[in-house]
Amino acid sequence: MNLSNKIAVVTGVSKGIGAALCQQLLEEGAIVFGLGRNAYPEAHPNFTFIPTDVRNYEAVEKAFHQIYEASNQQIDILINNAGLGYFGNVEDLPMTEWDEMMQTNVNAMFYCTRLAVPKMKANGLGHIINIASTAGLEGMPMVSGYCATKWAVKGFSESLWRELRDFKIKVTCVYPGSTKTDFFRNSPNIQPHDYMLMPHDVAAMMVYALKTPDNFHQVNLEVRPLQPKGPKK
Ligand SMILES: NC(=O)c1ccc[n+]([C@@H]2O[C@H](COP(=O)([O-])OP(=O)(O)OC[C@H]3O[C@@H](n4cnc5c(N)ncnc54)[C@H](OP(=O)(O)O)[C@@H]3O)[C@@H](O)[C@H]2O)c1
Repeated sequence: MNLSNKIAVVTGVSKGIGAALCQQLLEEGAIVFGLGRNAYPEAHPNFTFIPTDVRNYEAVEKAFHQIYEASNQQIDILINNAGLGYFGNVEDLPMTEWDEMMQTNVNAMFYCTRLAVPKMKANGLGHIINIASTAGLEGMPMVSGYCATKWAVKGFSESLWRELRDFKIKVTCVYPGSTKTDFFRNSPNIQPHDYMLMPHDVAAMMVYALKTPDNFHQVNLEVRPLQPKGPKK
C-alpha cells in the first residue's frame, strides 16, 4: 500500500513505539489520527490528536465518529499499540493492575477493531496491526498477567486475519522483544538499555509491512534484540 494520504489511526501516541510509528507514517505522507491520554509530542499538519482513554468504549466510539466525519468515512490503517505491563508474583498482583492490563491491552484492541472493520469492509481495503510481544509467545515467571493479555492479542489476531482476508483486509501481529521505551517503568529490575530494540526500528518493520503489495500479507512479525544482554565476554 502506498501510504500517501492513507488514513491511519494509532492508539498510544505520546511516547515509545507509538510515537515513533506516528513520525514514520507522517514522513510517508499518511494522515494520522492519534488516540491516547497524552498527546503526540510533535505538531504536524497531518496529525490530529483525540484525547481518549482507550479503556473506555464510549470515548473510543466518540473518537472514531470524529475520525469518520473528518476522513469521509474512511480508515485504511489501524494500529492497536496502547499497552502496558505490571509484573510480580501472581498472588501479589493487585486486581487493579490485572484489570488495567486487560482493559488496555485486550479490550481496547477489540473496541477499536470492531469500530474500524465495517468501514474497511465497505471500502474494500484495510490493514490492522496489533502489537503483541514475545510475552505473547512464551510464558514467563512474574509476568503471568501481561503474558495472558499478549496471548489474547495473538489469539485475536490469528482469528482475525483468517476472518478478514477475503475482504482485502490484512491483519499483522507484531511480537517485539525488549524495546528501549518507558514500558519498563513498572519493572524495577529492568532498566532500558542500548542492547534492546529501538522503538524506531520496530516502527520501521511495521511501515514495511504496511507498504507491501496488495497480494502480500505479513501475518506475524517477530523481532528480538540480537544480544539482549550485550556481547558475550
Ligand atoms: N517496550 C517493550 O519492551 C515492548 C515489547 C513488546 C511489546 N511492547 C508493547 O508495545 C506497545 C507500546 O509500548 P511501548 O514500549 O511503546 O511503551 P510506552 O513507551 O510506555 O508507551 C505506551 C503507550 O500506550 C499508551 N497508553 C497506555 N494506557 C493507555 C490508555 N488507557 N489509553 C490510551 N493510551 C494508553 C501510553 O500513553 P499515555 O501517555 O496515555 O500513558 C503510551 O503512549 C505496548 O502494547 C506494549 O505492550 C513493548
